[in-house]
Amino acid sequence: MSNAHLAEPFKIKMVEPLRMISREERVQAIIRAGYNPFLLKSEEVYIDLLTDSGTGAMSDTQWAGLMLGDEAYAGSRNYYNLAESVEEIFGYKYTIPTHQGRGAEQVLFPQLIKQGQYVLGNMHFDTTKAHIELSGGRARNFVIEEAFDTETYHPFKGNFDVEKMDAFIREKGAENIAFILVTITCNSAGGQPVSMQNVRDVRACAKKHGVRMFFDSARFAENAYFVQQREEGYADKSVREIIREMFSYGEGTTVSAKKDPLVNIGGLLCFKDDEELFKACQAMTVPMEGFPTYGGLAGRDMECLARGLREGTEEDYLAYRINQVKYLGDRLLDGGVPIQYPTGGHAVFVDAKRMLPHIPADQFPAHALANELYIEGGVRGVEIGSLLLGRDPETGKQQASPMELLRLTIPRRVYTYNHMDVIADSLINIKNRAERITGLDFTYEPKILRHFTARLEPVAN
Ligand code: F0G
Repeated sequence: MSNAHLAEPFKIKMVEPLRMISREERVQAIIRAGYNPFLLKSEEVYIDLLTDSGTGAMSDTQWAGLMLGDEAYAGSRNYYNLAESVEEIFGYKYTIPTHQGRGAEQVLFPQLIKQGQYVLGNMHFDTTKAHIELSGGRARNFVIEEAFDTETYHPFKGNFDVEKMDAFIREKGAENIAFILVTITCNSAGGQPVSMQNVRDVRACAKKHGVRMFFDSARFAENAYFVQQREEGYADKSVREIIREMFSYGEGTTVSAKKDPLVNIGGLLCFKDDEELFKACQAMTVPMEGFPTYGGLAGRDMECLARGLREGTEEDYLAYRINQVKYLGDRLLDGGVPIQYPTGGHAVFVDAKRMLPHIPADQFPAHALANELYIEGGVRGVEIGSLLLGRDPETGKQQASPMELLRLTIPRRVYTYNHMDVIADSLINIKNRAERITGLDFTYEPKILRHFTARLEPVAN
């Protein structure tokens, strides 16, 4: 396995000091936080891997753009710059800015979903599923089986099982399908990419049934980089060409601009050529997000985003980005820590089910591991498992998630390879005493979105 560093394609102009509090202070902090890292203060965290969303570092060019904000209520110059960037990168004609990705979801989904209709995806992100349900729809996932097998290599674990989806559409009838949503990369499966061939197959299936197809493209540039590296026929294509081809197969996209487009806040709702849908969404943007040329963003934020879209698709940046995440994955594998393999684009997902087999699903193994990692190294990760999944709404019983993952999400251009070593060393230390880690039980369990605010305690041995 290669542990090679790929040096950063930037130098550092400004730094933000980090402080590591003592082990005793970390123990006190996690007790105070009810054994829930979401409830820690960020100042109590040394390396924060909660998310790659809005946590990246902007470039000097982006910060310079901040000074060029045109804060006009309507027709800001920065909106036109943004629309131009979108057309250049995605090849899409129509752009609506939104305050973040879920802002785009809340505007688009009610336009497309009739009560009871299904929205088919590889694996919907939680807010996406929530907005589908709020619009009266039902979310269904069709990611390939290989995605659930963390040990076996597959180059595109974010792919759809198109046959299975096709059978579902035939069973339910195309009139009961609102649309297909292709999430690139597939966050919930481990930041795993979707191949171009799979997107073409999904497109063919959608066309055959007369079903519409859109993208959820928070991490579209990382996805394109994987296509270039792994898919036959794409090694000689540029990332920009790959992005243009991929988006040509869809009708539009929601974008959380807090990821690949390298801004701290922002989102996009874009359409290839459907003027009617664009106009309907523009109208709904006004009460939900703001006037359609600002959509919840300051002019200066739109300028940073226009620039970030271009920077986030540069190949030297992407090579460094993907390599840094892979470096952490390789170090963990070398140290015997089980992870979703191959490593994804934005995060390493540690397989807590394999690392802590003695902790049952209803005692949240990945969450127990998250707490242990915080105490060990001051590193904050996030559970993607049974705690996140929740109870069966009908029976009230805790559901067992097919995967119990600890997500180590790497912010963009923020941490160095030395930080990756601190994270890896901490987890390898924990592995050596894994059997002594205990599961958790609730002391406070909120009814909805419980993982954000739940309080827990270790179960007695
Ligand atoms: N779609 C995907 C695939 C996402 O990963 C996210 C956010 C969203 C939509 C919603 O975008 O946060 O800008 O409103 N994911 C973050 C995460 C929060 O931590 O994975 P948003």
